[in-house]
Amino acid sequence: MRSLISIADLTNDEIEEIFTLADDVAKLRAAKVGAGQIMATLFYEPSTRTRLSFESAMQRLGGSVISCSDMKASSTAKGETVADTAKVVSSYADVLVVRHNWDGAVQAMAEHADVPVINAGDGGHEHPTQTLCDLYTLRQEKGGLKGLTVVVCGDLKNGRTIHSLVYALARFGANVVTLAAGGMELPQYVIERLEREYDYSFAPVASGDLNSVVTETDALYLTPKQPHQLALYTQVDKVIQSQLSSLATGLRYDAFYMTRKQKERMKDGGANASYPTIGPEFLQEKRFQNTVVMHPLPRVDELSPELDKDRRGIYFKQAAYGVPVRMALLEFLSRANRTQRHGAKQASRAYRSPEPIGPKCRNANCITIQEPRSTERRFRIYFADHIGALILGCDYCDHRFKVDYVGNRAAKRYSSFDIAQSATIRDWWGRGELALFDSIKEAEELGYEPTKTSGQRVLMGEEEIDSALAAMSEQILNDCRDPDRLLILGVRSVGSQLAQRIAAAIEARRKRRPELGEIEIYGSGDELRRSSAADPDLGPLSLKDREVVLVDDVIYTGRTVKSALSIIFRSGRPRSVRLAVLVDRGHREVPVKPNYVGKNIPSSEKDRVRVRLRGEERQESDRVVIYSIVNPAVNTNTVAASREKSASQ
Ligand code: NCD
Repeated sequence: MRSLISIADLTNDEIEEIFTLADDVAKLRAAKVGAGQIMATLFYEPSTRTRLSFESAMQRLGGSVISCSDMKASSTAKGETVADTAKVVSSYADVLVVRHNWDGAVQAMAEHADVPVINAGDGGHEHPTQTLCDLYTLRQEKGGLKGLTVVVCGDLKNGRTIHSLVYALARFGANVVTLAAGGMELPQYVIERLEREYDYSFAPVASGDLNSVVTETDALYLTPKQPHQLALYTQVDKVIQSQLSSLATGLRYDAFYMTRKQKERMKDGGANASYPTIGPEFLQEKRFQNTVVMHPLPRVDELSPELDKDRRGIYFKQAAYGVPVRMALLEFLSRANRTQRHGAKQASRAYRSPEPIGPKCRNANCITIQEPRSTERRFRIYFADHIGALILGCDYCDHRFKVDYVGNRAAKRYSSFDIAQSATIRDWWGRGELALFDSIKEAEELGYEPTKTSGQRVLMGEEEIDSALAAMSEQILNDCRDPDRLLILGVRSVGSQLAQRIAAAIEARRKRRPELGEIEIYGSGDELRRSSAADPDLGPLSLKDREVVLVDDVIYTGRTVKSALSIIFRSGRPRSVRLAVLVDRGHREVPVKPNYVGKNIPSSEKDRVRVRLRGEERQESDRVVIYSIVNPAVNTNTVAASREKSASQ
């Protein structure tokens, strides 16, 4: 059965088909194509436009609508799961339209319903029907989508309309410029998907000298990989005009898509965060003469009412298109289900833990965490060799995160993941032997034993680590032009612990603690944040004009540093970025050279080098160790070796 959960469920041709139907809704209305159909609207979150335009659409098609005036007054209040609600209501209606506050909830409901389900917004995840209205509006105003440049502005992190929209713009070959409010940048999982599935990418900014990268940040965009173009630019300031004038000249801005701060999705209601606004000056700028201003509405105070009277303010028109577009969508889905047309989504094999315990989605607002009973723990596996990580993507909310421990089910052995194992793990996955874990505890509770290692040697002991960190801290302070601007940024998790020690050493010398933050390349959503001990009232971390020192434990291919740099430059413009690592192993694939190194340890690619710090699971002292892995599944060695060989060719 065809439902619409993500904008990715529709092909470009199907979207065009819906638009063609929308162009001639009078015909659908006259033919009463919805006669006899009942649509149920289940809204667990407030709505004016989406719900009323859906209800109006169904009635104009000749169908009728049933609804719960307030889902909080439904059986939900008695503890009914979304799964049960979906199952029950699907015997009363022919189509369900659902809005929910949890990411992935509508997907879960679609899995339990016997009729098609339409996502009218799920948490901070997606809002595909708003995107259909947005694209239709752009097409009406600008004649087409290909080659347009759309600036998306405001809360790009929590705005579900933004996530669906940027995927769709990417697919139709439009450029996207991002202008995020501080701490509300486009999430990593969205960027990842843009890069992987839609072929967009950052400009290669890697350089032997990190300082030279920083001086070039004025011209730093997420740039095109043909055939699409994407200029992604993130900068925080209240006055949008001045921000845009610092962008490369020559870009023609076709549309400015403004959004509201999604307070309900922020821990503190977003009280401290500054937020961009569009005022009357915008209208006077020559550069924006033909730039239409869009907004999914409701607006709060980010759009000045002056724009309402200007021909470029088209947000009310955009809201009005909600009815024809949703009429067209209802008719499209009903036809697709009658003729059993398949969707755009490719069914790739999902990872389901072969054991009763296994990885959990890191997104706290995901349905799999909020109401596990309505879901199964299901992930897509990404072998992200380019960053040396094994990544799981949640099948419900799309969030991606790194897996720390891998096991072989047949051999009942586990180890921490290492890129050198990549081919072997692919092999286990192929044979259904792969088991993944969030912690050592999980693996051991299931009776898994640590993988045998051979020849473990200690490369640095506690004293040597201490003096290396002390020497690095001193050099960092000596090289710093303005210690008040210093920001120590650790890469999670070991880098972030080292960053804390460096900050403490600097504090001992200066009697003032430098600001401390951490970067999480794959995690729960906040990629860049203050270290947990920091005062919660300080607001988001600002990178503007800071002297950033990025700290990691081991540098190897350099890809982690590259990812960290792209997060940094997406989040602001520091004055400089320098890199400190405890161990440099060599084997660089990206030309990055650390400014501070505790110890150079040339090592074979087959070896593992680990920095183990006191306090870690079962770790009583600080050590840097080197060892190699004895492959637990005896008969996979040859397969793995030949795969590894072909992968390196
Ligand atoms: C949006 C939503 O609910 O995500 N509204 C809408 O559907 N038009 C945008 C918002 O609430 O900010």
